[in-house]
Amino acid sequence: MVLTLIGFMGSGKSGVGKALAEDLNWDFIDMDAYIEAEEGKRIKDIFRKQGEEAFRDMETKALKKILSSSTSLVLATGGGVITRDKNKELLRKSDFIIYLRTKIETVKERLKDDKNRPLLLGEDKEDKITSLYNGRMEQYSELSTHVVDTDSLDIAEVVIACKEFIKLSPEFDEKISNLRKSY
Ligand code: S3P
Repeated sequence: MVLTLIGFMGSGKSGVGKALAEDLNWDFIDMDAYIEAEEGKRIKDIFRKQGEEAFRDMETKALKKILSSSTSLVLATGGGVITRDKNKELLRKSDFIIYLRTKIETVKERLKDDKNRPLLLGEDKEDKITSLYNGRMEQYSELSTHVVDTDSLDIAEVVIACKEFIKLSPEFDEKISNLRKSY
C-alpha cells in the first residue's frame, strides 16, 4: 500500500511523512533525500549546475523506481512533482494521495528565512511563492484523493487526520481482513 503526500513547499510533507510512517510502521521515502542519495548531490547544486528540467527528470526516474516496489510505504514528494504530467500519471498508482493544503500566508511565513529552496532564492521571494503557488494549487487538488488543511495543525494532528483516511478506506478493510485470514 502506498500513501503519497503532496503539497506546496513548506506544507510539512517531510515531517508528517516521517512521523506517519513511524506510527504505521511503514517504510518512508522522502523524494528529495532519495534523489540526493541517488545522485550524490544536493538539490541546490542540481538546480544550480544542471537546471530544473534535469531535476524534474530525476523525479520521474525516482518515482518509477520507488513505485515499482510493493512495500507499505509513505512517500513524501517535492512540491513541484505535479508540474510533470508523467509524474502525476505515476503517482496515481498510489492508494492514497493526500494533499497537505496550506494557505499562502502560512507558506510565506514558514519559508521566510529558508535558504534551501532553489526556486525561491534571490530577490522577490514572496512574488515567487505567489506565482508558483497560484499555478500549482489546482493541480494538487485535482491529483489528490484526500485533503488535510494544515494551517492550524501540528505534525501529530496532521498524522491523525491522515490515519483517519486510511482507517475509513475499503483498501484498508481488505488488507486487515486478509491479515486476519492469514492467522
Ligand atoms: C520544489 C520543492 C522542493 C524540492 C525542490 C523543488 C518545488 O521540495 O523538490 O526544491 O518545485 O516546489 P519541498 O516541497 O519538500 O520543499
